[in-house]
Amino acid sequence: MNYSILFVCLGNICRSPTAEAVFTRLAQDEELSPLKLQIDSAGTIAHHAGEHSDHRSISAGKKRGYDLSNIISRQVIECDFENFDLLIAMDNSNFTNLSEIAHQTGQSHLIQKIKLFLDYSTQTEYTEVPDPYYGGSNGFDRVIDLVEDASQGLIRQIKNI
Ligand code: 4NP
Repeated sequence: MNYSILFVCLGNICRSPTAEAVFTRLAQDEELSPLKLQIDSAGTIAHHAGEHSDHRSISAGKKRGYDLSNIISRQVIECDFENFDLLIAMDNSNFTNLSEIAHQTGQSHLIQKIKLFLDYSTQTEYTEVPDPYYGGSNGFDRVIDLVEDASQGLIRQIKNI
């Protein structure tokens, strides 16, 4: 059985590519058979489409053993709602933007596919993955901490499918 997940943030150069790389690596370490996972990421804006991830995300990931070097930014499109089982928002504004795109498809039930990533997290300090773009390097390390924790939670949930 195939199961597909799209991680979504604003620019698809910091948080969602980090989530794609971390989740992909952590899921590889798990026995999820017979599920065959398809993992991707996208942004709600097109501003960075075609670009590699932010160099600060690439190096923060590399320090922790995650490879973002082959991820190229793209914008969310309406058919992502048909093609993916889950669309995972990094923060509440990504969630709202995705809900608007789901409405535009004319199939409002697709909103049920949208989840907030930190709803799978065990920590309670954060409910959203903070945007690190305008901050210092510790923000990029924090993104990895939060994404690792939520990825483990999502993997636990997927194991019960
Ligand atoms: P991301 O971070 O949504 O985690 O990829 C951002 C990337 C770019 C911008 C904002 C946030 N920007 O304003 O260009």
